[in-house]
Amino acid sequence: MGLTLTGSPDEPDLLFLPWDVPLEDWPPDLVVSLPRGISRHIVRFVQVNDRVYAIKEVEQPLAEREYHLLFDLNRRAVPAVEPIGVASGRTDADGEPLPACLVTRHLQFSLPYRALFSSTPRASTVNRLMDALVLLLVRLHLTGFSWNDCSLSNTLFRRDAGAFAAYLVDAETGEMHSRLTEGQRHHDIDVAAVNVTGELMDLEVGGALHPSMDPLTLGDQLRDRYAALWNELTEPLAIGSGERFLLDARIRRLNDLGFDIAELQASRSENTVHVQPKVVDAGHHSIRIRRAIDPRHPARQARTRRGLPRGAGASVVRV
Ligand SMILES: Nc1ncnc2c1ncn2[C@@H]1O[C@H](COP(=O)(O)OP(=O)(O)O)[C@@H](O)[C@H]1O
Ligand SMILES: [Mg+2]
Repeated sequence: MGLTLTGSPDEPDLLFLPWDVPLEDWPPDLVVSLPRGISRHIVRFVQVNDRVYAIKEVEQPLAEREYHLLFDLNRRAVPAVEPIGVASGRTDADGEPLPACLVTRHLQFSLPYRALFSSTPRASTVNRLMDALVLLLVRLHLTGFSWNDCSLSNTLFRRDAGAFAAYLVDAETGEMHSRLTEGQRHHDIDVAAVNVTGELMDLEVGGALHPSMDPLTLGDQLRDRYAALWNELTEPLAIGSGERFLLDARIRRLNDLGFDIAELQASRSENTVHVQPKVVDAGHHSIRIRRAIDPRHPARQARTRRGLPRGAGASVVRV
């Protein structure tokens, strides 16, 4: 069987990329030079017509697994790069097999977190970057996703309508569960803190880290800020009589952070009401509704134009 491009390839010209050449040897006129984090695999950015894609050479089962995880995260509106497809069945000019490729849409105007830390951000910027990273981790955990490899290279930064936003870029080690246990969450944060500290130490050794930044302190900050936000979102609230404003304030704060309360469980003992909020990502609902009803939404347009079935992951193109 020849080359297969599976997924939602919204750009037919993707098929005409030189899939029979190892990614490392793709011609320079095709490859776009943009900042990249540190990676295990060969990753290249290519421009096809007016769009830029990231292509990662990786064995087929891993490429497909990552495609599906990214698809799931996008469906749940968690900030992550958008999967486009998996190219498999590649062979070189001599008929020798080549690894598969995962194709994602390059996240426009983004920079890897690592690149930001190797410049000299101000302390207030570092705090905002940390908060954006922690917010991403909390969002992932609320959907039941454990990343297992959060790092400065696996996270992209972008300004979204002025706000700092962090996006997941590498889901290879991730796992989707119906919900995460406390142990799974703690493990994920430990890995994140160790990775972040390690990468900052790397930069420090290379003389690329501002002397005011201490890798160990920043790793600890990541744990502390995560714990603070998680507790703020999920801890039960005890409200005495006449303290209804506490609940209002909590809901306002959750909304400001981009979350909604799907459900409130309340129980009463004596004069105190104990409220347990079930928090969900607000984007989850609004983005799904927008996709479903808005004919101008890019995801719908692309499918309507090319006659692809709704629900990415459904189309297979063989050449
Ligand atoms: N869709 C994308 N948009 C922007 N940058 C990307 C995208 N995909 C990959 N990258 C960049 O390429 C780097 C390596 O990709 P990654 O998936 O982490 O590879 P690996 O699995 O080998 O670690 C990332 O650090 C990121 O900077
Ligand atoms: Mg990576």
